[in-house]
Amino acid sequence: MASCRVPGVLLMCVFVILLSTVFSISSASEEEKEYVLTLDHSNFSEIVSKHKFIVVEFYAPWCGHCKNLAPEYEKAASVLSGNEPAIVLAKVDANAEENKGLAEQFEIQGFPTIKILRNGGENVQEYKGPREADGIVTYLKKQTGPASKEIKTAEDADRLIDGKKIFIVGIFPKFSGEEFENFLIVAEKLRSDYDFGHTTNAELIHRGESSVSKATVRLLKPFDELFVDFKNFEVDALEKFIEEGSIPLVTLFDQNPDNQPFLNKYFGSPDEKAMLFLHFSHDQIDNFKSKYNEIAGLYKGKGLKFLLGDVLASESAFQFFGLTEDQAPVLVVQNNKGLKFINPNVEIDQIAPWLKSYVDGKLKPSIKSEAIPETNDEPVKVVVAKSLRDMVLDSKKNVLLEIYAPWCGHCKKLAPILDEVAVSFEKDADVVVAKLDGTKNDVPSDIIEVRGYPTLYFKSASGSKYVAYEGDRSKEDIIEFIQNNRDAATSESILKDEL
Ligand SMILES: *[C@@H]1O[C@H](CO)[C@@H](O)[C@H](O)[C@H]1NC(C)=O
Repeated sequence: MASCRVPGVLLMCVFVILLSTVFSISSASEEEKEYVLTLDHSNFSEIVSKHKFIVVEFYAPWCGHCKNLAPEYEKAASVLSGNEPAIVLAKVDANAEENKGLAEQFEIQGFPTIKILRNGGENVQEYKGPREADGIVTYLKKQTGPASKEIKTAEDADRLIDGKKIFIVGIFPKFSGEEFENFLIVAEKLRSDYDFGHTTNAELIHRGESSVSKATVRLLKPFDELFVDFKNFEVDALEKFIEEGSIPLVTLFDQNPDNQPFLNKYFGSPDEKAMLFLHFSHDQIDNFKSKYNEIAGLYKGKGLKFLLGDVLASESAFQFFGLTEDQAPVLVVQNNKGLKFINPNVEIDQIAPWLKSYVDGKLKPSIKSEAIPETNDEPVKVVVAKSLRDMVLDSKKNVLLEIYAPWCGHCKKLAPILDEVAVSFEKDADVVVAKLDGTKNDVPSDIIEVRGYPTLYFKSASGSKYVAYEGDRSKEDIIEFIQNNRDAATSESILKDEL
């Protein structure tokens, strides 16, 4: 995934951004027949309503990840046009003023966002597959056809069930009745996240009881207890069972790529997060593991989810949390307001009591910040976590704040433009243009949501307006945006402007 759009999940975003900056390559576009349909507000409903299955990419012309995706998406569209039945790929410029309604309707929060629309648009799912042509093709082929596949033979079971992944199998005396129907409803709903199958023969599954007397859902997983049975076929209950059962008690963060889907789930979960980072070569590793697992078991279902990370695999997490290697083993809690609590050089016996203090509200959050700079006289003012309140949140000025990363190419491109914007407001005492290095400073995620770099936020002088700037990153557009959103200038500053 090349964009960051899980709200509040900063950590994942940082990884994603790091990866995508390293690997993004832009390709030249060619003038050829286009297989991807271009839709806009005028024909979106009409075209979508004609399709049982259509894929729509919401993009913005300025978005780099969208540009990287475009040739792959087009290639996939051309391959899939020959599929039986044809699979249609489309795109919408969600940044265009006239399509903003569509972007809102589909709750587009970042670019690119790809949605799978079924039954003429009645059923909408997020596309969670790869971003290169072959991967897109394979993923989408799987998304068509039945959501749950029948397992009739041992060969079917071998072919369908991948031991490294979650697989959900419904075991039924017969393929009819409310329980079976509900199973199919849930399979349809969650098909982009999990693989589903159904059978009348529990023996084929190899895990769990080989004969069941009542309809059963068996969730197979590559961790913890390896399978769990469930017999409640209410749609909501079944869905919850699958979502919860598919997160390991302790998610492992190491260099094994098979763990990636579980890491995505972990960081995508709205729960609070406890993370223990240490060297997996640590001489006490087994003791840490078993104690940590035991503690995780005690918190199961209580809104705190556990991760165990190898220092060797967690470099970006260390950067993100402002940790250093000599602090390992280090225990970190991130709550759902984005606040973090850190216990460096933690010993095995301290883990449980420290977590209890956290849960009891007795710990103080740790806030990463650079020092407040001694001089700050460039046109674009430097803000750090320690000065964020004074210079932005509680300031009586209209502030445009850029949250950037030193390594981010788009930020480098934006820097001279922001300089010009700042210069153009230099005589206006009510407007401040500022920047904050998001890799060295924490920002409260309940106020400023950083989904990627650069993130631009605007706060009006009175604080009545708090908005992300998502327009074109040009001097003219940014200035216009500030003028349109600022609070009315005081007579003093108007006077200054005229001088
Ligand atoms: C939808 O309308 C836009 C603008 O009029 C046009 O460019 C596009 O080709 C149309 N799409 C289809 C699939 O007809």
